[in-house]
Amino acid sequence: MTDIGKTIIYYYSSTGNSLYVARFLQERLPDVELRSIPEELNNGRFEVKADKVGFVFPMHYLSLPLQVEEFLEKVSFKESPYLFAIATCGVPYWGRPFLDMNAFLSKKRRQLHGAWFLRLVSNYLPYRDTAAQWRISIRAWFAERKLKGIAKAIAQNDHHDTWQVLRDMCRRYHEEWRGRQKTIDENFSCDTEKCNSCGMCQRICPKGNIVRSDGHPVWQHNCVECLGCLHICPVEAIDYGGVTKGRRRYRHKDILPKELLHDFRG
Ligand SMILES: Cc1cc2nc3c(=O)[nH]c(=O)nc-3n(C[C@H](O)[C@H](O)[C@H](O)COP(=O)(O)O)c2cc1C
Ligand code: SF4
Ligand code: SF4
Repeated sequence: MTDIGKTIIYYYSSTGNSLYVARFLQERLPDVELRSIPEELNNGRFEVKADKVGFVFPMHYLSLPLQVEEFLEKVSFKESPYLFAIATCGVPYWGRPFLDMNAFLSKKRRQLHGAWFLRLVSNYLPYRDTAAQWRISIRAWFAERKLKGIAKAIAQNDHHDTWQVLRDMCRRYHEEWRGRQKTIDENFSCDTEKCNSCGMCQRICPKGNIVRSDGHPVWQHNCVECLGCLHICPVEAIDYGGVTKGRRRYRHKDILPKELLHDFRG
């Protein structure tokens, strides 16, 4: 027996876009429980039993965040729920998150019923500065309009597929990124003059990849490049590759810093 009418939404979020989406759905659908993917990985809780199961996450390098992949490998479904996924992103359709997700799910003889991109704001600061406020507001307006439709579709168990273009190129790009995982955090540095030792960078890290020495962060070469540490630092003491100084840090306006922290390590 499933829990009748129950929806479980697994989310992954470092600057709040995906948490905002998960919350939006929680407010509009009956009996929704939100579960943080890093916390489920940390607690070793992988069994799920519900009528509907959703996954909300950012697009990372044209596909899934590495910890979402890890979770999908481990999750097991007690029943056959309606499955949906929403990838929040800066630029939709360039990517293959749902194809890759279905590859994980097919090992469990499951497939997505509903899949949507939702364009919000890119938090990939090493590439370019955060969008201007007017652009963020326009994107938020369109996103909310689309989300209302998505909520309705999920409520009705609708099927929904979506475009995913240049699939081979996207696969190569994502694989190449995965290959760099052990060296990604060599790009980070901390300005110890600015750092006030608040510990937020350590607490947001979903991999427990930051320890602190004399109060300042030291990266441990096990980074998934979520960029949570870069964006959350209240004094902008963290830089990535010498290119993020002066660029605007980002957090979704409806999400508080404390809602993005994990306290399971360190
Ligand atoms: C490592 C990394 C890679 C990213 N790659 C893409 C991408 O390929 N396409 C895209 O549209 N956005 C990309 N983004 C932007 C995020 O997907 C987008 O800002 C997302 O909404 C952030 O969600 P969050 O606030 O819940 O973490 C990337 C962000 C990061 C940190
Ligand atoms: S070190 Fe920073 S970018 Fe890397 S996983 Fe931790 S919070 Fe994310
Ligand atoms: S979040 Fe910033 S100020 Fe706080 S400990 Fe980390 S680097 Fe220092």
